[in-house]
Amino acid sequence: MDSDTAVIDLGLRDEVCWEDVETVRVLTDSSGFFTPKEVEIAMSLVVERLEHGPGCGYHFLFAQGPDSCLGFACYGPFENRSDWHDLYWIAVRGSQRSQGVGSRLLAEVELRVCASGGVWLRVETSSQPRYEPTRNFYERKGFLLTRVDIDHYAKDDDRCIYDKRLGALCDDAGNKGTILQQ
Ligand SMILES: CC(C)(COP(=O)(O)OP(=O)(O)OC[C@H]1O[C@@H](n2cnc3c(N)ncnc32)[C@H](O)[C@@H]1OP(=O)(O)O)[C@@H](O)C(=O)NCCC(=O)NCCS
Repeated sequence: MDSDTAVIDLGLRDEVCWEDVETVRVLTDSSGFFTPKEVEIAMSLVVERLEHGPGCGYHFLFAQGPDSCLGFACYGPFENRSDWHDLYWIAVRGSQRSQGVGSRLLAEVELRVCASGGVWLRVETSSQPRYEPTRNFYERKGFLLTRVDIDHYAKDDDRCIYDKRLGALCDDAGNKGTILQQ
């Protein structure tokens, strides 16, 4: 499969509405990956965005399928640096995984980060075995593991930090990023 082409017919939208608080709850919950606390945090970012607008730094993309929303991504500039962005969340409805939805969302996030002057995209995930498919996903998408913080989340649960230089797309846009000091 060309991984940037979803098997399912998808529409992408970046407007956020109050119904998306519930959409994000359903999507994160259905993934089976996130704790109730993490689900709450994801929902609170939607609220933050609705209350404070794009200036709050949280940008959303929703992947709309024929009948329902199938996935979402949330990203934004990293600690006020325009060249570095953080992919805070990406989640695809549990029943719709491995059909290209995550690839489509990520590709669009990358385009938008470049368009806004970004060059680097960072993502953090857990070292736990259940996150192996997630780590595979990032590695297949060109992210490099640049740091591991041992026992960061809990004992035997390290934080894995992956970075991706967005490359030609950003070079074409004239963006120049600098390496972030770890
Ligand atoms: C990680 C996630 C966003 C990927 O989205 P997706 O729609 O399932 O992934 P895609 O179908 O676009 O697959 C993209 C690539 O990842 C690989 N991949 C997808 N699912 C995989 C799995 N279960 N195991 C191994 N590789 C997998 C695919 O082979 C594909 O590789 P390719 O591009 O070389 O063909 C999604 O699976 C998900 O929501 N996971 C649970 C939540 C999560 O971990 N979120 C990230 C932490 S915030």
